[in-house]
Amino acid sequence: MSAPILRGVADLRARTADWKRAGETIGVVPTMGALHDGHLSLVAAARKSCDRVIVTIFVNPKQFNNPDDLKSYPRTEHDDAKKLERFEVDAIFVPDGDEMYPDGFSTTVTVTGLTDVMDGVHRPGHFAGVTTVVAKLFLQTSATDAFFGEKDFQQLQVVRRMAHDLDIPVTVHGCPTIREIDGLAMSSRNLMLSDRARTLAPRLHEEMERIVEGVLKGGDFEGLRTEALTRLQKNGFGDVDYLEMRANDDLCLLKTPERPARLFAAAWLAGVRLIDNIAVEV
Ligand code: PAF
Repeated sequence: MSAPILRGVADLRARTADWKRAGETIGVVPTMGALHDGHLSLVAAARKSCDRVIVTIFVNPKQFNNPDDLKSYPRTEHDDAKKLERFEVDAIFVPDGDEMYPDGFSTTVTVTGLTDVMDGVHRPGHFAGVTTVVAKLFLQTSATDAFFGEKDFQQLQVVRRMAHDLDIPVTVHGCPTIREIDGLAMSSRNLMLSDRARTLAPRLHEEMERIVEGVLKGGDFEGLRTEALTRLQKNGFGDVDYLEMRANDDLCLLKTPERPARLFAAAWLAGVRLIDNIAVEV
């Protein structure tokens, strides 16, 4: 059965009022649409643990630091609604830009520290856009629970920090990255890869696994990283924005996995920016 598509905050609030009165839990899955199995795994997790599920679809202009990237971002609302049918979600919230940011909108939510590295450096303003819209979505949906993919691990930690610091009463759940059969992390941006680039894209994950394997055998991280960068370049990759090992909690740079850590990467392939991260499990 198709879920109601709500476009206004007032409609959304009217819908959630009864659920809140009844003491039901409300799970929100914030997305920018172009839904793939990664998103659907978040919807499944929400469905499993919450009484009510809201999926939001909003291509948030405030988190794009490149206007061309915003223009070319895939928009597939009809297909997205179809994909959600089998999960029997309770509402799909699809606001437009004016609904989310009406005339005079002047507030930005920023998290410091966790946003000073990786995508915070390479995509200036990106995380302020994310935390501003996610704070609004949490408040608009009255979510008790929110579901985010570990594929965007830095985003997950930044959102957790924001919800904690602002006392927003929502539990933020991180769900494992879903991968294609060849290891490529699922992402809406994969749709922008040419056929040739798509065949090369899994190399990023392969190289990351190789580094982690080497580090866990006691290898030198810097040496392993340099070799991986050379191989990526030989295999058609362009700039690598970062390829770094960082602590899970505060995202501090590490040379050895002396505490729970992940390997993070962002790399360009034929005009598409791929990001990925994997656990460094000692
Ligand atoms: O991860 C995304 O798709 C977006 O950053 C999010 C969380 C929906 C906010 O616009």
